[in-house]
Amino acid sequence: MLTSWAQLNADIAGCTKCGISAGINHKVPGQGDPDARLMVIGEGPGAQEDRQGLAFVGAAGQLLTQMLKAIGLSREEVFIGNIVKCRPPGNRVPTDGEAANCLPYLRAQTALIRPQAILLLGATALKHILGPELRITKARGQFVLSKGVYILPTFHPAALLRDPGKKKDAWEDLKRLRDILSGLPEKEKNSRDHPN
Ligand code: URA
Repeated sequence: MLTSWAQLNADIAGCTKCGISAGINHKVPGQGDPDARLMVIGEGPGAQEDRQGLAFVGAAGQLLTQMLKAIGLSREEVFIGNIVKCRPPGNRVPTDGEAANCLPYLRAQTALIRPQAILLLGATALKHILGPELRITKARGQFVLSKGVYILPTFHPAALLRDPGKKKDAWEDLKRLRDILSGLPEKEKNSRDHPN
C-alpha cells in the first residue's frame, strides 16, 4: 500500500537499519516539490548535508543549482534526494547493504511524487537504480524509459568539480533532459497528501 509523506518521513527519521545511522547529525531525506516533474538523485549526504539535514547544499550542491538553472529549473520545483539518507563516514561510497536498506525509502518517495523524469547523478545512483553492470561514462546521456518515467544518468557535480573537462558532456545531457521535459504534457497535480 502507498504510504503517506508523514509516515515515510517518520520511518526515515526513526530508521536504524544501518550502523552509519548512529554516527550522523541529521538524516537527509531529500527535499523539494512533492509534485515535482523531475527527481534528482545523488549518492549520499556529505558533511554540509549532514549538518543541515538537506541534500546537495555543499559545493556540489551549488553546482547542481546552477545546472538546474541553466535548463530553466529552480531547486524548489524539483525533488532532490540521494540513494542513502545517512552520511557514510568520511564520505565513503555507501555499501551495497546500506543502499539496499535505504532504497525502499527512495522508492516510496518516487511513488508519492510520480515524477516524469529522474536525473541520476553519478555512478552510485546509476548502479542502484539502473544496474551494477552499467558504467557512467557509457550510460550517461542516454534515457532509459522505465514504467513511463524517463531516467537519465549524468556525471555527478562533484565529478565535474574535480574534472571540469566533463562539463561539456554534462551540458549535452542536461539539454536532452530539458528537451524531454518540454515535450511532455504538464503533470496533473498529485491529489495525495503532502508533507506541508
Ligand atoms: N553529494 C551527493 O551525492 N549528495 C548530496 O546530498 C551531496 C553531495
